[in-house]
Parts: sequence; structure tokens; C-alpha cells
Amino acid sequence: MENKALLIVDGKEYELPIIVGTEGERAIDISRLLQDAGLITMDPGYVNTGSCKSAITFMEGEKGILRHRGIPIEQLAEHSSFVETAYLLINGELPTQEEFTNFSESLNEHSLVHEDMRAFFEHYPSRAHPMGILSSMVTALQEFYPALKDKPQEEQINITFARLVSKLRTLAAMSYNISRGHKVNYPKSDLSYCANFLKMMFDSPVKPYDIDDDLVHALNVFWILHADHEQNCSTSAVRLVGSARVNLYAAISAGISALWGPLHGGANQATIEMLEEIYRAGGDIAPFIARAKDKNDEFRLMGFGHRVYKSYDPRAKIISGVVHKVLGKLNRHDPLLDIAQRLEEVAVKDSYFIDHKLYPNVDFYSGILLRAFGIPTNMFTVMFAIGRLPGWISQWKESIDDPDWKLHRPRQVYTGFTKRDYIPMNQRGKK
Ligand code: ACO
Repeated sequence: MENKALLIVDGKEYELPIIVGTEGERAIDISRLLQDAGLITMDPGYVNTGSCKSAITFMEGEKGILRHRGIPIEQLAEHSSFVETAYLLINGELPTQEEFTNFSESLNEHSLVHEDMRAFFEHYPSRAHPMGILSSMVTALQEFYPALKDKPQEEQINITFARLVSKLRTLAAMSYNISRGHKVNYPKSDLSYCANFLKMMFDSPVKPYDIDDDLVHALNVFWILHADHEQNCSTSAVRLVGSARVNLYAAISAGISALWGPLHGGANQATIEMLEEIYRAGGDIAPFIARAKDKNDEFRLMGFGHRVYKSYDPRAKIISGVVHKVLGKLNRHDPLLDIAQRLEEVAVKDSYFIDHKLYPNVDFYSGILLRAFGIPTNMFTVMFAIGRLPGWISQWKESIDDPDWKLHRPRQVYTGFTKRDYIPMNQRGKK
């Protein structure tokens, strides 16, 4: 019985097909089980559930492998730019020179946001978290930039992609400037995507921002490392919400909300806050390691552990190298880096972390890099969102083009009351 699994329930046999991926991954297809056997499968947190077939990103958690469209993350980080990686993810192939130029021009063309959107920022409570603002702004984009009915479907979709990739970056910088009561800087068409972002963020009439090519390169690498990560929590949110056939902006907004959580993209903010707490407490890491290992304490070592990687996250390796280069270039010493390195040194030799297969993830060192750029802590997850956007878009595109597409609608095992009668209010609580 090749490529089939046999399930026996109540003495009855069911043959279940086995799907094999291009890297040899195998999955039992249970999609007909309810229909054929009246059974669903239980998998809280989808730890062992494949929700789709995908040709975008390959991860091998035990070996710490990450590839986009077949290309190892190490090669992309070394040779590519964020814009080129975004093109690769969305379109499936690296662009030719002409395709790259067209894509870059399209990003420039769509980089401005409607001036009326400023009013939204201005009326947000000043202490609002930038991720909440970003999620609302992205939903609002749909009303400012509705589908271009006069264009062919594919062109409409490509323009929407360019709008999103370009405007998310503009919105993030705009939000930062407005939150500080500063003037908004507009994007410039002669600057690259990353240089434009840094200029929009930090240029000031009193202190012009000088673009440093090494920092631009580091930002490219940072965003490349975040560009996609197969069916993680926020990407699954994009696919699930998108499966109801909402517009792309609404699906991306759902992804932003999911990413905000401290167990997911919000871990970059939570990690820095943890490192700062250790620093304020005098820098002794021992009590924090002890707390992370204590079953009765909810504290976790933020930036450690991953649902898929059971060895070193390849992105963490690359980012720690970038952090050292950037701090060296800026001639700056960050005491939080010393603390992070000591935590890692101790944790990787400690049996608790070894047995639980807990290693630094991408968020462990990324905050130190973002601090070096001058990005405020509460914007760290916004930086992650800008990076993850091409992944969300490509996963959404793949899902709507999928011939096996279905509305995402998991089932449950009901554990509540069995049938009982309605009690009028004046008789409730009486025995
Ligand atoms: N510190 C201490 N213990 C940990 C940690 C940690 N960071 N992470 C997991 N564990 C322990 C758990 O306590 C549990 O122990 P037990 O089996 O003895 O009860 C075991 O490892 C498994 O933990 P789960 O939460 O079941 O593992 P899961 O795969 O669901 O968790 C997660 C992955 C959520 C990332 C987890 O490792 C975590 O909370 N890490 C800290 C937050 C973080 O850095 N998130 C960013 C992830 S990367 C990203 O989303 C971009």
C-alpha cells in the first residue's frame, strides 16, 4: 500500500492518501474522514496540521533550514535586497533587470498616502500602540484605494500589492513623525526602499539625516530575514481571513493584529523589555534563567524557542552578525548586547534549554539592531510587519489561486451542556 495510511476505527478500515512534498515531507490527507467515517481530528494549536500545500517557503526545523522559492536565506541575506526578495516571494522567480526596474518604479509611484489619512493619526490617542494604528490604517486603505475596476484583474492585483508594500513603509514613518509632533517627511523617488524609510523616519529640518550605505544594507538584511516564514500565526490569520474572500487590505490587517502578540512578532519588543529589566536589575542573568526554568512561573526567556525550529534559528545567526557590524560601524557599545550574549551562552549549555530544544529565534537580537537604527521600542513589531508583508501577500495570492481553495472553517469537539430547557428569569436560581 504505497503512499497510503490505514486507519482502523471500530473494526472498519479507511485508506488515507499520503501527500508527499518536493522535499520529501509526508502528510496524511484526512480531508474525507468526516464524510467517510464521521470523524474529525483534534490538534489544538495546529501543532501537527498542514493547512495548505505551498510552494513559497521551505523550513526544516531540526536542521535550521529556511529557503524562499528554493533559495537559502543565507544567500538572499548576502546578495539580495528587500525589494528583490519581495518580488521573488510574490512572483516565484528572481526578477530580470527590466522586471526589477518596473517593480521598483511601481513602488515609487504608489508610495504616497492620501493626505486625509493624516487626520486618522492626529485623532488617535497619543499613547496608542503603533501596531493598533497600523492595523486600522491598512483596513482604511481599502476605502482610499478601492479596486481599479477599469483595469484587468491581474493589473489591479499587482497595483494593490505595490500600494501595500510601498505605503506600509510610508504609514509607519508618518505615524512615528506625527506621534512626536514632527513634520511628516514624504518619500523620494530617487531613494531606494530602505534608504527612503530611514530618511522619512529621521530627517529633520534642524538635523538632516545622512544616509549611510551600511545601515541601508543592514535594514535590507533585517527585512529580508522577516520576509516570510510559511504558515506562522500571522500568515495563517491572513489566509484564514482571506479565505472568506475579504479584500486584501482586510486580510493583511488581520495579519498585523496577529503579529502584534508577544508570542509572535511582538517578541522583539518583549525581548528588549526583558533585557532592559535585567540591565536595570544590575545585569545578573541567573535569576532570570531560573525563572524561565521554573514550572510555577509564567516568565519565559523572550526571543527563545520556536514552534518549528528545534535547533538554532538561521535568521538569528545572521542577525547577530549584522548587529555586531552595525554597532562597530556606529562605534557604539550596547550593554543589552552583552546581556543577550551571556543569556545565550548560559542557555545553550543548560540542560533545560537543551532538553526543550530552545535556541535564540529571530527576535532575540533584532531589537538590539533596531535600537541601533534609532527605532523606538514600541515600533519594533511595525518593523517586523513591513518585512513580513511580501510573505503575507504571496501566501494570500497563492491561496486565492489554489484550485483546492476552501473557506477556512475548523471543527471542534463540543464539551458543553447537552440539551436543556430555557428557564424564565423569575425562576432562575430556584432549586
Ligand atoms: N522560555 C522558557 N521555556 C520555554 C520557552 C521559553 N522561551 N519556550 C518554550 N518553553 C518551554 C515551555 O514552558 C514548555 O515546557 P514544558 O514542556 O516543560 O511544559 C516547552 O518549552 C514547550 O513550550 P510550548 O509553548 O508548548 O512550545 P511552542 O512550540 O508552542 O512555543 C513559542 C513556541 C510560543 C515561540 C515559545 O517558545 C515561546 O513562548 N517563546 C518565547 C516568545 C518568543 O520568543 N516568540 C517568538 C517566536 S518567533 C516568531 O514568532 C517571530
